[in-house]
Amino acid sequence: MQKGRFIVVEGLEGAGKTSAIQTVQHWLEQHQIDFISTREPGGTPLAEQIRTLVKQVQDEQVAPETELLLMYAARMQLVKSRIEPALAQGQWVLGDRHDLSSRAYQGGGRQLSESLINQIRTAVLGSLRPDLTLYLDIDPAIGLARARARGELDRIEQEQLAFFQRTRAKYQQIANEETGIVQLDASQPMAAVQQHIVGALDQWFAGLQE
Ligand code: TMP
Repeated sequence: MQKGRFIVVEGLEGAGKTSAIQTVQHWLEQHQIDFISTREPGGTPLAEQIRTLVKQVQDEQVAPETELLLMYAARMQLVKSRIEPALAQGQWVLGDRHDLSSRAYQGGGRQLSESLINQIRTAVLGSLRPDLTLYLDIDPAIGLARARARGELDRIEQEQLAFFQRTRAKYQQIANEETGIVQLDASQPMAAVQQHIVGALDQWFAGLQE
């Protein structure tokens, strides 16, 4: 059986990930592709508990390294219990965030060293990589205003604008340097973003069939 494919949607808060994911889901359904959906941090009962912990405002300072390890602990559990088994069975996986989030938020935003992140990344993921990442690029001032309009901000969302500017810069840098990441302008109207997503999926899928 052919191995499943792994598609990930990435971006800052308020970039429109939820509607982008719905667009990808619809595309998968139209192509009659069997898939599971995941989110990070989270996606398993234990990883969802870690998600609650990292989002909660704590009475103590959370060290950036602790945050990084919690993200990767949640990721390990999700990879072992859901992502790897699904891909092995030929199911596709649609991820709401994955490893690129840690590289952007903890590497860019929290300014943790690339060498630390790479060591943990290698230990947790080995050679597992998404087949396609759709990165929704948004000015954090716009994204945060959208997130704020949705309700109360969690511990990470309460960070300063400069944190999100560093996170965005890291996302952009990696998207420009690496293959397999499609950068989309998420400041456009939703219909235009959706059209670009479908275009990117069609083009990538056609390449797979060759
Ligand atoms: P969200 O997916 O609902 O936006 O919430 C996830 C939050 O966790 C968001 O603020 C981004 C952050 N995050 C990291 O900082 N590093 C990570 O590796 C992941 C997966 C998420």
